[in-house]
Amino acid sequence: TTSFTVAIDGPAAAGKGTISKAVAAHFGFAHLDTGLLYRAVGAKVLNGMDPLIAAKTLEAVDLDSEGLRNPDVAQAASRVAVNADVRAALVTFQRQFAARIGGAVLDGRDIGTVICEDADVKLFVTASSTKRAQRRMDELNAKGLGLAFGDVLADVEARDTRDRDRATAPLKPADDAVFLDTTDLTADEAIARAIEYVAAVR
Ligand code: C5P
Repeated sequence: TTSFTVAIDGPAAAGKGTISKAVAAHFGFAHLDTGLLYRAVGAKVLNGMDPLIAAKTLEAVDLDSEGLRNPDVAQAASRVAVNADVRAALVTFQRQFAARIGGAVLDGRDIGTVICEDADVKLFVTASSTKRAQRRMDELNAKGLGLAFGDVLADVEARDTRDRDRATAPLKPADDAVFLDTTDLTADEAIARAIEYVAAVR
């Protein structure tokens, strides 16, 4: 087979996005940020749509918006992500993306445990919640949001708790995942480690 799947899971703002993009660019793989699927559904629900209808009618164009990267949409995403029917409606798209020829990196919460149980490489990316909140605050405030550290920390921890405690596809490392703790790593160091793990299998 010519497909090759890298599954990258972990809590909010651990560095999954940065690592996934860099790994995909390095190996020439496609990248899917699966959080965007839940954020797009969450944004539609904030606009009054039924969650299941939103999930079933999701289109590629819904995933483009920079407006999906804000704390309100993040919270709405983690609330719709508890819904087993919403999750089920998004499975086929993700699996087809993973099966594409030439390789794919998918990042999210349940890629190694549910979506791509047979992924060639599984990484579970973590960092202390303080470090994650700091990074997320810097990222959002660079876009002009002006958020306070305590609010960002509370947001990140509320989502992590909801993601870990839900019955369907909870956030947890796959049994065969490799842990990558980015607390004391620069982005470049974290990327280099991830590329090493993938290169060892590739
Ligand atoms: O990764 P991101 O922070 O953009 O994800 C937003 C929310 O979407 C997460 O807090 C989580 O509730 C949900 N999500 C999920 N499963 C995934 C990706 C994201 O439940 N594979």
